[in-house]
Amino acid sequence: MTAQLIDGKQISQQLIEQIRQRVAARSDRGKRAPGLAVVRVGEDPASRIYVRNKLKACERAGVQSFSHEVPDSVAQPELLALIDRLNGDPAVDGILVQLPLPDHIDSDAVTDSIEPSKDVDGFHPYNIGRLMLGLPGLRPCTPRGVMTLLQHAGIDIDGKDAVILGRSNIVGRPMALELLHAGATITVCHSRTRELPEKVARADLLVAALGKPRFVQGSWVKPGAVVIDVGINRLDNGSLVGDVDFEAVRREAAWITPVPGGVGPMTVATLLENTLQAAEIRDPDRS
Ligand code: GUN
Repeated sequence: MTAQLIDGKQISQQLIEQIRQRVAARSDRGKRAPGLAVVRVGEDPASRIYVRNKLKACERAGVQSFSHEVPDSVAQPELLALIDRLNGDPAVDGILVQLPLPDHIDSDAVTDSIEPSKDVDGFHPYNIGRLMLGLPGLRPCTPRGVMTLLQHAGIDIDGKDAVILGRSNIVGRPMALELLHAGATITVCHSRTRELPEKVARADLLVAALGKPRFVQGSWVKPGAVVIDVGINRLDNGSLVGDVDFEAVRREAAWITPVPGGVGPMTVATLLENTLQAAEIRDPDRS
């Protein structure tokens, strides 16, 4: 078997185009463009690339972006004061603080300081709590984007065995909740998990989000499985690879996401979807 590719690049472009049309339709009705504030602290090279991609996508969708580049040396109260200003700014519907933050900043305090209705990353305890309860809210972009990819590929999740590798707050944990709500039976594996290959072998749906290049072996994967690779790892030679040994796993799986061009662009498109959602809640169409 050779797996079919789930083309995240193409699906994300379609989603951005849909958002652009919805933003344009709102503007025809006299509403301002949704606004996204993006805060980057320090000079982490990966964060620079991710933030640049997010700002470029805003432009394509007609979302107004406000970029804040803050030096590594910023004191925490100063950063919290910036977020407070953005919380009160009526032109800003969404606030994103790119992670990771420097060690001297308490990331939890920063996440908690974002007004939940502007928390387009979906990381605030309020929004995570609503996701846990299955209530509407702003949902973390990567897991929400994965759900969109699965939907586009026509993959039925109800009753499936899903295995998630990684338990981060950004991907693994919210991914487990998304798939649980969609009717899957969930196993979350992490650095302390024993007999990992046996657990992976039970997966009808495997989500790899552990940040280890080409970690998942072809021999572990159940024939016909759906494999979603969230990893983005840069090798010494400069190339990007996922958490899955793509060539080997591709021979076993029915569906697979490539790296690059899979989950990464969907995360960016979903951020814009969340920003539009936040703007629509703040300033709804009543017609
Ligand atoms: N760093 C890695 N992924 C993310 C993300 O989805 N949002 C933010 N804010 N930072 C990240």
